[in-house]
Amino acid sequence: MLDGGFPIGRPTLVTGDSGAGKTILCLQTLFHGARSCGEPGLYLSFEERSAEMAEMVTSFDWGDTPEQLHFHDALIDMDFEATDGLELTGLLALLDHMCARDGIRRLVLDGIDVLLHRIGSAEERNAELGRLQRWIRQNDRTVLITAKAKGDRGLFDEIFEGLLFGSDCAVHLQRRQDHRMSQRSIWVTKYRGSKHGENAYPFVINRRGIVSLHLSANMQPDRLLDRAPVSTGVREMDDMLRGGFPAGSITLYTGGPGTAKTTLAGFLHPRSMPARRKGLADTL
Ligand SMILES: Nc1ncnc2c1ncn2[C@@H]1O[C@H](COP(=O)(O)OP(=O)(O)OP(=O)(O)O)[C@@H](O)[C@H]1O
Ligand SMILES: [Mg+2]
Repeated sequence: MLDGGFPIGRPTLVTGDSGAGKTILCLQTLFHGARSCGEPGLYLSFEERSAEMAEMVTSFDWGDTPEQLHFHDALIDMDFEATDGLELTGLLALLDHMCARDGIRRLVLDGIDVLLHRIGSAEERNAELGRLQRWIRQNDRTVLITAKAKGDRGLFDEIFEGLLFGSDCAVHLQRRQDHRMSQRSIWVTKYRGSKHGENAYPFVINRRGIVSLHLSANMQPDRLLDRAPVSTGVREMDDMLRGGFPAGSITLYTGGPGTAKTTLAGFLHPRSMPARRKGLADTL
């Protein structure tokens, strides 16, 4: 989807509505960096307590939290009001300090919209964002910046203009309800110099964190069941189902008239199956 991952040493913007999965995606990226890539990470939130975030990490099946994963509160008091402009000198000094002290390579700035809403004019906002983005490039850090954005239009909210233009990569997370089912998807809206995927890809959040449901043909299937799956006879459908139907189970094909239920089932015909599966086809 991202043609390899987020851009190294550059800012990436992660947007989405509340509960879309922005924080989990960022935590997962930091965790992976600290544990598997030897890149110490810093998670800094403008809206949530670091202790809660550290606890959230343990709710996933990711194993023990690596020592190189650091959390820092940057909570903004609800009563805080900037009377004479707001600038990011203090934040940049803090980042300098923490990067020097802990060798931080990956950073998450979670909920920057909370900060941006406190900077009155668009000019001031863009100037300060420009400083932050310059700091990221000069210091060669991989930074994920999250901001709340409602629906599709939120992306084009004036408040995100500077963030969006100044980021090398931007991903938008969406969640909608369809027939009382929650459907999540991730959409790479821009990625400078990369041939990223164009579509919105479905994902779920489970104990493994963000799990993409987009499986290309060359991805290794990660089976949840112990027994070998039964091929559907259609390669793309096998990829989608991580190998095929669960063996020894009942599978229901549903759909309106003419939607290819019988044609699909036809691929399970003995002639299209290996000999040892023939008996199974008779029973379908
Ligand atoms: N351990 C878990 N297992 C499964 N799903 C979880 C788990 N923890 C959180 N979730 C799901 O993830 C959603 C929250 O995701 P997250 O906190 O990343 O959203 P967000 O986009 O950062 O929201 P906000 O803008 O409000 O901070 C929850 O609403 C919940 O559905
Ligand atoms: Mg969040």
